[in-house]
Amino acid sequence: MLSEKIQKGLTRQLNRESESSQLYLSMASWSERKGYEGVCEFLYDHSNEERIHMLKLIRYINKRGGNAILNNDRMLIPNITSLSLKELFMKLFEHEKTISKEINLLVEISLQEKDYFTYNFLQWYVKEQIEEESLIKTILDKIELIREDKGGLYLFDKDMKNFHKNFE
Ligand code: FEO
Repeated sequence: MLSEKIQKGLTRQLNRESESSQLYLSMASWSERKGYEGVCEFLYDHSNEERIHMLKLIRYINKRGGNAILNNDRMLIPNITSLSLKELFMKLFEHEKTISKEINLLVEISLQEKDYFTYNFLQWYVKEQIEEESLIKTILDKIELIREDKGGLYLFDKDMKNFHKNFE
């Protein structure tokens, strides 16, 4: 059985992953409308990944006798219509850093509660967050290099189609 504290923390996290999926989805739609074919593929793919992160948590909570509750009440999708591509990825980078902090906190709670099953389960998320932060930072660095260069932007967008797969 999960302790109340663990159940609460995991439930909060599953809802954060659900929000992440929606955030990436809204950004994918934005970039598709703007004509960024590669960027939108990357973001649509990533939205699916976030959904998988959410699903893993739901399945784990239920398997441990908990009750996985979805609650998107506090869902806050920022207004992205006036953002530049760089600003969009800066927002994603900040978002991923926040998620990393939350995962770390959960790991801490699992140790306090002496729940080593949950501690072990969370190690997958710890590894995933290292990769996610690094991934978004690499993209940001590329955008920084290109700046306003139209040709560079075109090639960057083209590369983004396979970027996700190549990075893994
Ligand atoms: Fe599931 Fe991007 O963190």
